[in-house]
Amino acid sequence: MKSLASVLLLIASSRAGPTQFVNQFIGTTNGGHVFAGATLPWGSVKAVADSDSGDNQGGFVSDGSAIRGLSPLHDDGTGGGPSLGEFKILPMFCEGGPSGCDGREASRTVAQVQGSAKASPGFFSIDLQSNTQAEVTVTHHTALYRLTFQNFTADATAKPIVLFDLSNDLSHSFQGGQQTFQELDDETVRIQGFGTFGPSFGEGNYRAFFCLDVPGASVAAVWENATATLVNVTSTPTTFDLPNNEGGALVQLSDDFLAWSDKTVIVRMGVSWTSEDKACAFATSEIPNLDSAQFETTRKAATDLWDATLGTVQLDMEGASDEHVELFWSSLYRSYISPTNITGDNPLYDSTEPYYDSLYCIWDSFRVVHPLYAITQRETQAEVVRALIDIERHLGFLPDCRMSLDKGLTQGGSNADSLLSDSYVKGIRAGINWDDGLAAMVKDAEVTPPDWTVEGRGGIERRKTLHYVPQDDDTPGGIRGRSASRTLEYAFNDFGIALVANGQGDATSAAHYAEVAGDWQNLWNPNTTDSGFSGFIQPRFINGSFNFVDPRFCSPVLGHTSCFLNDQGGEFYEASSWEYSFFVPHDMATVVSLMGGPETYVNRLDALFSNGFHDIGDEPGFLHCFLYNYGARPDKTVDRVLSVLAANYTTAVDGLPGNDDSGAMGGFAVFSSFGFYPMAGTGVYVLSTPLFKTITFPSATAGKQAVITTINFDGATTNKYIQSAKLNGQDFTRNWFSHSEFFGAGGTLELTLGPTPSTWGTAEADLPPSFSVTKSLVPFS
Ligand SMILES: *[C@@H]1O[C@H](CO)[C@@H](O)[C@H](O)[C@H]1NC(C)=O
Ligand SMILES: *[C@@H]1O[C@H](CO)[C@@H](O)[C@H](O)[C@H]1NC(C)=O
Ligand SMILES: *[C@@H]1O[C@H](CO)[C@@H](O)[C@H](O)[C@H]1NC(C)=O
Ligand SMILES: *[C@@H]1O[C@H](CO)[C@@H](O)[C@H](O)[C@H]1NC(C)=O
Ligand SMILES: *[C@@H]1O[C@H](CO)[C@@H](O)[C@H](O)[C@H]1NC(C)=O
Ligand SMILES: *[C@@H]1O[C@H](CO)[C@@H](O)[C@H](O)[C@H]1NC(C)=O
Ligand SMILES: *[C@@H]1O[C@H](CO)[C@@H](O)[C@H](O)[C@H]1NC(C)=O
Repeated sequence: MKSLASVLLLIASSRAGPTQFVNQFIGTTNGGHVFAGATLPWGSVKAVADSDSGDNQGGFVSDGSAIRGLSPLHDDGTGGGPSLGEFKILPMFCEGGPSGCDGREASRTVAQVQGSAKASPGFFSIDLQSNTQAEVTVTHHTALYRLTFQNFTADATAKPIVLFDLSNDLSHSFQGGQQTFQELDDETVRIQGFGTFGPSFGEGNYRAFFCLDVPGASVAAVWENATATLVNVTSTPTTFDLPNNEGGALVQLSDDFLAWSDKTVIVRMGVSWTSEDKACAFATSEIPNLDSAQFETTRKAATDLWDATLGTVQLDMEGASDEHVELFWSSLYRSYISPTNITGDNPLYDSTEPYYDSLYCIWDSFRVVHPLYAITQRETQAEVVRALIDIERHLGFLPDCRMSLDKGLTQGGSNADSLLSDSYVKGIRAGINWDDGLAAMVKDAEVTPPDWTVEGRGGIERRKTLHYVPQDDDTPGGIRGRSASRTLEYAFNDFGIALVANGQGDATSAAHYAEVAGDWQNLWNPNTTDSGFSGFIQPRFINGSFNFVDPRFCSPVLGHTSCFLNDQGGEFYEASSWEYSFFVPHDMATVVSLMGGPETYVNRLDALFSNGFHDIGDEPGFLHCFLYNYGARPDKTVDRVLSVLAANYTTAVDGLPGNDDSGAMGGFAVFSSFGFYPMAGTGVYVLSTPLFKTITFPSATAGKQAVITTINFDGATTNKYIQSAKLNGQDFTRNWFSHSEFFGAGGTLELTLGPTPSTWGTAEADLPPSFSVTKSLVPFS
């Protein structure tokens, strides 16, 4: 008989597509909070083992800690409290049957067999010290578990039991629930019900519904605290309420069944955000059978879907290191985990539009994840845009963050505006009512919401008269602070409104929002100096006087953990004035000039990195690596991107510099590898050097493909710098390109690489567009 390990190896090596390069354990320690388990692209169900660890935001942590159970709902890479993780199941042996089980989380949590965790796209497995193994694969709304009781013997006094925990989500936010037992056929017990829980970075609560089918059952029980009570399961449903104590169900497997099934049981759990019936309907329609053949079929379908989804990027991997290949595909894979597509399972309002959840948070994902979709997953991106506009229709405002059906906390600007403008200028149209989209964006800019902690903007009225958000802003209904970083973000969000208004033929609005997008300059204090540089963004009061905030404050060298979402969090959010003073994606020429010209600007970018003021572990820091192009030094962009990747990204479990934030941290590695980076919210991409010889985007535009190819490629070891470029055979000297000219039109961008910096891309006319120079919105598309 083959050992299980060699069977797994066989299955793994049979993967032919890009999934063979995906390592799901990257970023599962060191605060990466990566979800390592089984899911489909944007899958509602994300199943994995939940570690008994302080760092378990994504469920499983590669720190060797014990396992609380496996559960079907998770988020990826989030930085708030641990998300979801309810409805855990766990294979156990209990002396004498259910009465010998202590279901409580602290009692039942079991050590893992160290190093036994395995994962591939759509699959996760782990061995436990209880001589059990738990494997899981998924469909869109259903988790399918294969539980093996390795040392099972018939007639032993220790009985094989499947534990179900209704109460313990990862953040222990349970507020009560219900479970109903019913016999489906001779030996299958169905337990269905719901629990009410709290969101991990938001307001309110939410209900999730499950439908669990366990075949081969002999005895069932409910457990509450340490006590198990047998249930007479019949074809007539029996319902039990659970107040907010620990509790759930226990199902003992019959000795005959396990002897017949080679010690293995296939357990299915459908999950719905709408109802128990829907959870059961998802389960039975998506996974008809409960046997090992079904497990393999389901797993293969998941792998195939992932290969197809990842296949919208095609690489010539010659000359790339194995590690970089693994880093790239793993990062791309994680970019497609969130948000979750729960279209058709949205209990909040009736609508035929798509619904996406776990937009966690747009502050993170607008920068790289959604711009990536605008190239590689345009259908999904159109659905996300429709879902966002529909949220505004039904719930009042575009969100900046949502999770588990609840409103999440807004970190900075109303960045759905920038997500929308990014899609708009990139020609995402399918099924989208862009008049409604523009109206929703304008509402963000003009209407103060009842609670700007979770939607819209604060400081709208003050900004209208002062042209900045003052530190002492008095808009009620939101968390204080972040006035400087919010002013910068609102200004850029407004530029996005201008782009959409312009495209929709609303010239008046376009002119207005393009103008107020210059507001940020009112927070520029030319007299603030630090580390040999002068001129910084600083907070300002209603009376017009500036406050002084040390430009290094919030950076890794000063008060790094002092700048979060609280009233004392200061005027810059999660990054310093040193970093934020560069955040004007639509008008970097003015930043260059305010900083004293290109040479000082470039030196200042260098100083940002060399003095330790920069933080690649948090999303505001992504852009700076590529900003040398605005100072006519595209060679320095290449050096910076390569050194950041080398210093801060690996394929080890601690290989991410910060929270993955729904794929954002991975998205940075993806764009760095492409050799171009989106000025997200606009159609501009700045060029660095691709880290693959040829990269093909077969579906960036219907019927055409876009190809980036290189001459003299050596994995960016020696031939790092662009010497010359051709777009569709024509000389191309700009160190940037627009979405429409490359992805929109299709074609080939050919870059000739060499060992030393060249003059390519360094002339004034080669620099990326800035609104103060172009005075036109057209180049930004
Ligand atoms: C299987 O091994 C576990 C862990 O050692 C033990 O608790 C359990 O009783 C064993 N089961 C049987 C049936 O021997
Ligand atoms: C379970 O434990 C909680 C907390 O100790 C207690 O309040 C509750 O009454 C217990 N419930 C039962 C049914 O024993
Ligand atoms: C379980 O319930 C059924 C139907 O009500 C009844 O016929 C049967 O005797 C019960 N079994 C036990 C063990 O109580
Ligand atoms: C999202 O889910 C809906 C409903 O299941 C489905 O029709 C749609 O194709 C899904 N979108 C994507 C991008 O998979
Ligand atoms: C900067 O300093 C100059 C010279 O002292 C002064 O005239 C100007 O008002 C100052 N500007 C600000 C914004 O404080
Ligand atoms: C402006 O307001 C701030 C905050 O209330 C105050 O500390 C400062 O003294 C005021 N400045 C002037 C010039 O009145
Ligand atoms: C990135 O790498 C640099 C150089 O080793 C290091 O100083 C910095 O702390 C790293 N950043 C993060 C967020 O890990």
